[in-house]
Amino acid sequence: MRILSLESSCDETGVALFDAVEGVQPRLIVEKLASQERVHELYGGVVPELAAREHLRNLPYLVSSALQEAGVTVKEVEAIGVTRGPGLKGCLLMGFCFAKGMAAARELPLIGVNHIEAHLCSAMLDNPDLEYPFLVLIVSGGHTEIVEALGLGHYKVLSRTIDDAAGEAFDKSANLLGFPYPGGARLAALADSCGRSRFKLPKVMREAPGFSFSGLKTAVALLIKEAGPSAGEPEIKAELAYAIQDSIVDALCFKLRRAIKETGISRGAVVGGVSANRCLRQRVSEIKGVSAAFPKLLHCVDNGAMVGYVAALRLLRGERTPLDADVLARWPLERLA
Ligand code: KG4
Ligand code: ZN
Repeated sequence: MRILSLESSCDETGVALFDAVEGVQPRLIVEKLASQERVHELYGGVVPELAAREHLRNLPYLVSSALQEAGVTVKEVEAIGVTRGPGLKGCLLMGFCFAKGMAAARELPLIGVNHIEAHLCSAMLDNPDLEYPFLVLIVSGGHTEIVEALGLGHYKVLSRTIDDAAGEAFDKSANLLGFPYPGGARLAALADSCGRSRFKLPKVMREAPGFSFSGLKTAVALLIKEAGPSAGEPEIKAELAYAIQDSIVDALCFKLRRAIKETGISRGAVVGGVSANRCLRQRVSEIKGVSAAFPKLLHCVDNGAMVGYVAALRLLRGERTPLDADVLARWPLERLA
């Protein structure tokens, strides 16, 4: 079955087309992505109303260009997958209403997908040999969780953040260093170009079960204050970036190692926007006795392919979302079981 999927939960509009056949991995035919980074950069963060309007503008264009590239007409689409939550309500509504409209007009099955589950499954989308059970570190701009994945829809959340997400910690620290939003990747590139630091940040809350990154921002602000005007010098700025990245990556790897030890599971995956981070990928790969899987860089950030992959699996299981269903701005993984 040909399934068209849409993602619009935050500030990326994603569209993908999959071929779903019983007994084989869903096959990605084409995908399209429109980033809104430029729109929100001006405001230092995502403006939900602007993001929603951008989705509305982007969706028809991305859908028609994806279908055209695949050589498929709209009449040949056999099911619609769409992110139902969690996310920004106005943004979710744009994709969900668009999908419902298409499904209603042509009497097609609709599959509402959980965005966190889509990130989680992006590891399998790009590593088809990855088998359950595996441990997943989900690190994005909105989520930081370690999850024991036992099967599609069967997840045990072992650890999650009690305040900021890892991506947020990168972006807020980057902002303190003077980078425009979202500065995570730019901070990481600067840190990698330097490779060392004279600065030491306190270890981020190691022993507690959950993650906490809010204290890091205060520590970074203090460090920058102490450095005074020299904080703007290229060498000092790069060393500050290195110390920040090292501190966030250390916190993530510490808890991942502990989860591996506690569960005895030796298959691991890292997904979400921050999984594009080179230092994190390297340090997770160095954890002894663990095979680590990562999505392609294109599938780390929000995208339509990860949504289509989950929609295809659920469609083949006979699942359908009723056309009178609503979006779910809050939708924790535990509620999927
Ligand atoms: O998964 P994603 O696109 O959005 C959410 O669902 O939240 O993740 C975006 C986050 C941003 O905070 C961004 O700064 C961060 O991922 N990010 C990075 C890198 N690339 C993206 N953080 C650190 N290093 C990177 N290379
Ligand atoms: Zn996301």
